[in-house]
Amino acid sequence: MKSQPPTNSKERLNNQKDYGTESSSGSNFSYSESGERIGRGQGALIQVQNLCKTYDNEGVKTAAMCGASFVIGKGEFVSIMGPSGSGKSTLMQILGMLDRPTEGKYFFEGKDTFGFDDDTLAGIRNKKIGFVFQSFNLLPRTSVYENVELPLLYDSKPDGQNRKKVMDALLAVGMEHREKYLSNQLSGGEKQRVAIARALVNNPDVVFADEPTGNLDSKSGLQVMKILQKLNNDGHTIILVTHETYTAEHAERILYMKDGQIVADDPVRNRRMADGESELLK
Ligand SMILES: Nc1ncnc2c1ncn2[C@@H]1O[C@H](COP(=O)(O)OP(=O)(O)OP(=O)(O)O)[C@@H](O)[C@H]1O
Ligand SMILES: [Mg+2]
Repeated sequence: MKSQPPTNSKERLNNQKDYGTESSSGSNFSYSESGERIGRGQGALIQVQNLCKTYDNEGVKTAAMCGASFVIGKGEFVSIMGPSGSGKSTLMQILGMLDRPTEGKYFFEGKDTFGFDDDTLAGIRNKKIGFVFQSFNLLPRTSVYENVELPLLYDSKPDGQNRKKVMDALLAVGMEHREKYLSNQLSGGEKQRVAIARALVNNPDVVFADEPTGNLDSKSGLQVMKILQKLNNDGHTIILVTHETYTAEHAERILYMKDGQIVADDPVRNRRMADGESELLK
């Protein structure tokens, strides 16, 4: 007989063997036969087990993160919260394959990433993963169009569709009218929307956003959240790091970190929808 899912995060973290359907949150997560939680019944995109990262700078070791075990299902929208220095960016860099863990297992689409060489990781990063950072990371004195086109230029087999892909991505963030502007001629909110377009241009499975609203005013921040929610509705998995509870509650689920560990994993009971909120700011 299947057991009921644990009702709070501590129980869930302590009891990886529970499975069933989580009904109390109103979200439709389910649990695989091996007891792992998956989202929207579409299977696991990311699965990590006892993931740790210790930085080693010329013998000076810093244990940044340890013991992370969770599953993120395809199509989920997950926030990661926690105080400064708790390991959020470290975790994101490993999940985004910008860095490797020092211990533990990381399965992406069911495949163990441990044996992947650097070229394979770079290929997955380019095709399946999009990144958005707090500081935008656009090329200065370079046009909006060229910034968004950049990931397509790494493609060894271009399909002649670059212009359509770039313009579709700009349209998705409402920045098509700025294609010829230089990145330094944009406001902060506009820069972040262009950065999202760049993350989207290869139609990635998952978008990692590390404090994407951290440098923005509240109206621009809401616009960014609106775009991320729309992308999620269109099937992209979204993983968002934020300090703000308000921003985190736009996700369906929140992972909490403290001192390098995941200390809670909770569904969002009253999810915020950016669509309705932006009306308030007009
Ligand atoms: N390259 C590095 N070398 C050594 N230590 C590092 C490195 N990067 C991060 N750390 C350390 O690892 C810990 C976690 O850092 P991390 O950047 O993951 O925190 P964070 O939760 O993202 O913080 P913030 O909210 O301030 O961005 C910190 O103590 C940090 O000093
Ligand atoms: Mg960080």
